[in-house]
Amino acid sequence: MLDLLISNCALPDGRTGMGVAVQDGTIAAIAPQFEAPARETLDAGGYLLSPPFCDPHFHMDSVLTHGRPRVNQSGTLLEGIALWGELKPSLTAQDIADRALAYCDWAVARGLLAIRSHVDTSDPSLLAVEALLDVRRRVAPSIDLQLVAFPQDGVLRTRAGVDNLRRALDLGVDVVGGIPHFERTMSEGAASVRLLCEIAAERGKLVDMHCDETDDPLSRHIETLAFEAQRLGLQGRVTGSHCTSMHSMDNDYAGKLLPLIAESGVSIVANPLINITLQGRRDSYPKRRGMTRVPQLMDAGVTVAFGHDCAPDPWYGLGSGDMLEVAHMGLHVAQMTSQAGIRACYEAVTGNAAKVMHLERYGLAPGCDASFVLLQARDPVEAIRLRANRLKVWRQGKLLAETAPLVTTLHLAGRPPAVRPGEIRR
Ligand code: FE2
Repeated sequence: MLDLLISNCALPDGRTGMGVAVQDGTIAAIAPQFEAPARETLDAGGYLLSPPFCDPHFHMDSVLTHGRPRVNQSGTLLEGIALWGELKPSLTAQDIADRALAYCDWAVARGLLAIRSHVDTSDPSLLAVEALLDVRRRVAPSIDLQLVAFPQDGVLRTRAGVDNLRRALDLGVDVVGGIPHFERTMSEGAASVRLLCEIAAERGKLVDMHCDETDDPLSRHIETLAFEAQRLGLQGRVTGSHCTSMHSMDNDYAGKLLPLIAESGVSIVANPLINITLQGRRDSYPKRRGMTRVPQLMDAGVTVAFGHDCAPDPWYGLGSGDMLEVAHMGLHVAQMTSQAGIRACYEAVTGNAAKVMHLERYGLAPGCDASFVLLQARDPVEAIRLRANRLKVWRQGKLLAETAPLVTTLHLAGRPPAVRPGEIRR
């Protein structure tokens, strides 16, 4: 007997009226009809059953600190880094864990079940690292929390920066991070990329570096990262995050760079909410968008995913763990408004993000984890358009969260008494 049978689902690939059978926390089969009985059945009502959302770029140690010690007045990345530097000495492990756990609750409610979070390793006490390792263990039944050792103040620029990062990896942090554009010079930045990739290769770790998060068209650490990924045989294991300078690069240079990124198997994570907010701040008009070249990278065969990056913290005062909001912003900034473009942006917060994170058994296919979200939308385009309600969220066959369907009662003469706002009637 099946554990769970969800019938009448729409799937992200366009199939409708499909059933999904679950056994022992795994998808047993997907088919229009099932004869086998199930302990529990659910009619999805034609709504979209999607693999869970994945956030491949977040900062869990700073989440929910917006306004502490004060609000970022200039709105720039650099004032955010300065504010974070002021705040860090007052943080406690309890404070970090409480905020992270609160955000993880939001994430589960939003069907966001995998998060890659950078954790600042600049402080030799590694307070945030230890706190988030504990959070990773506590949320494991509901969320895959992957941690990146992130030397926020520059691994070479900070005293004992390399040692702190190595110790964070020793404690069990999953991924090697970096921030080459924040090192003192371009050559120091390049040296940090080389060193960090060598550490990852030695230890068999993945790499995910903040790379060229600037409007400077000559900030070209992504080139070094791609070159080092090839040199060290790390193809498919390296991610460049932000890469906003690529927006401003000369097109001739970008024409040479994009094939190098594709050949090196480096994936790129754009963070639309934050890139459109922080970049271009020194421009008058015209004002650059500051997000990396998402459609060009996708056309070149590069895996591109979207991250949330920040939720109320020194860099950004908004956000709620809603990856549909991230996809919505991404497609606007990238002008990916075709149906195919919108679907590609949905993939950027689901399948592509899972690929960046090397998640196993992810997806809607027999043998994958029975982890999915039922959205109050009929397809990925409607899901993004409505930032659709998450009706139910399952993890390995277990129901984690439910939200009541959104229905508005109207008091309008001559109109139907109730509508589901924004839904197209079928
Ligand atoms: Fe970031």
